[in-house]
Amino acid sequence: MLFFLLLTIIICVLVMFYIKWVKVRSYWAERGVPFDPPNPFLGSLTFLMRKNPSLWMRDIYERHRSRYVGVWLFWRPALVVNTPELARNILVRDSGNFRNKFMTASTSDPIGSLNLLLTKDPAWTGIRKRVSLAFTSSKLKSVQAVAAAKSLDLVTRIHEEGVAEISLRTMFSDYTTDVFSAASLELDSNTTLTGEGAVRDITKEIMEFSLPRGLAWCAIFFWPDMAELFRVNFLPKKSTDFLRRILRAKFKAKSVELNKDPKTVLEILMQMMRKSQDQEKAYSEDCIMAQAAALLVGGYETTSSALTYITYLLAHSPRQQEKLYQELLVAEEKHGHHNMEGVIADCQYIDCVIKEALRMFPPMAWLDRVALHDYKVDDSLTIEAGTPVYVNGVGMQVDPEFYPDPYTFDPERFTAESIPYTYMPFGDGPRICIGKRYAMITLKNAIAAIILNFEVLPCPNSPKPAEAEIQKKGLFLMPGEDLKVKFISRK
Ligand code: HEM
Ligand SMILES: *[C@@H]1O[C@H](CO)[C@@H](O)[C@H](O)[C@H]1NC(C)=O
Repeated sequence: MLFFLLLTIIICVLVMFYIKWVKVRSYWAERGVPFDPPNPFLGSLTFLMRKNPSLWMRDIYERHRSRYVGVWLFWRPALVVNTPELARNILVRDSGNFRNKFMTASTSDPIGSLNLLLTKDPAWTGIRKRVSLAFTSSKLKSVQAVAAAKSLDLVTRIHEEGVAEISLRTMFSDYTTDVFSAASLELDSNTTLTGEGAVRDITKEIMEFSLPRGLAWCAIFFWPDMAELFRVNFLPKKSTDFLRRILRAKFKAKSVELNKDPKTVLEILMQMMRKSQDQEKAYSEDCIMAQAAALLVGGYETTSSALTYITYLLAHSPRQQEKLYQELLVAEEKHGHHNMEGVIADCQYIDCVIKEALRMFPPMAWLDRVALHDYKVDDSLTIEAGTPVYVNGVGMQVDPEFYPDPYTFDPERFTAESIPYTYMPFGDGPRICIGKRYAMITLKNAIAAIILNFEVLPCPNSPKPAEAEIQKKGLFLMPGEDLKVKFISRK
């Protein structure tokens, strides 16, 4: 008797799920939006842990060649948009309706839910305004000084490691962590030289892939309800504790000199804990921690992956490398090797090289938003409030209509303006990367120092840049294999 009761319940549940599934499955067809049939469990996310999501985005773009494509994040319908016009509408023109990201951290985790990367309005507006103070031109001067000094350490390190093949990613993560530690947290270390340091311990832990962390990130990105249910943390607990200890020690040591104009990220964060003139409330320590974590996580790995690709591309493109070297030499003769800020400002080609590398390998390959209200995409499509929308940056950046011969490294294409909203490695609109200029300073100093001091050569039998493995398990577009080059001293 009990058995039959149970069986009936199970059958009812299955039937309910099936009816729901039939509805889910026909969602985009009913709206006349092109799609690939979803998987009953994963929706469109069948690639997870097997293929990088950036490649999935690119594939959607290239196969459908359609203004937009409907996908499913598990059972939730989401829209991928593929044209500059729609990108502009979502990111800029109608940004009022798309201020929030879809990705969400668990409310049980303040470090995730309060941080600038993931937090939602109304909290986001206030935090963004305060943290932006750390990224004004005058504040970035001190970042320039730190990046120039650490780039010299980078040169020393490469000399020490010799002409052997050097793994780029680890070395550059040491460097970007070092710059962040010294410039933002005022915590000096010799991480670029030694690979060791207090903040480096954190970034090493963050970088380590484990299945639970992988699932945690998937939940944050694609299934926020799951992140909530399982109380997923943005950072491993050890990293959070570590960062908290560092910040507390710093805050204690500094508390006296707080009345003046804040100069570094650390000082901005400290001031956020106090009341500001125009704002009633002071932020909690958790919120301050969360911003430090956001800046660290948003910055060090993206920048180190970019440096890896830039160096690797230059090693495989001798003509472009020579051109960069010659331009840097001219600028160096004019400004002197102590004035890296001047050298960099005078070398237009370094800008083109970096832009082109970020076009081919944008670390964050798509831009995540969610519709606040129902939204008319065009005359034939209105999406419902709550629909996630992904702007397909990586797709447009390799569209031959915008970038002829898109898989060829050709920095010269950036000597002319690119078509607006076809190139967005740092995003656009109110949620554009807050660290864009900070990142450019970090990138330019390292590349200039390296190219002025070394000729960079490919290792024998190493893959061409466009054929190098991209990580399969992570969500960001980053190398999936150990990319190495040879450095030959020019002196
Ligand atoms: C090459 C390096 C970098 C790349 C490619 C990159 C890319 C991006 C992208 C695509 C976004 C999302 C923009 C959008 O949705 O419109 C973003 C947001 C963000 N980035 Fe970066 N980033 C880089 C470096 C940095 C650095 C160095 C920092 C910190 C110092 C940083 C901090 C942030 C933060 C806090 C956000 C969230 C901003 C918000 O939602 O208000 N990023 N970044
Ligand atoms: C870094 O190395 C230099 C030179 O070896 C040394 O003088 C300095 O104290 C070191 N700094 C830290 C924070 O360990």
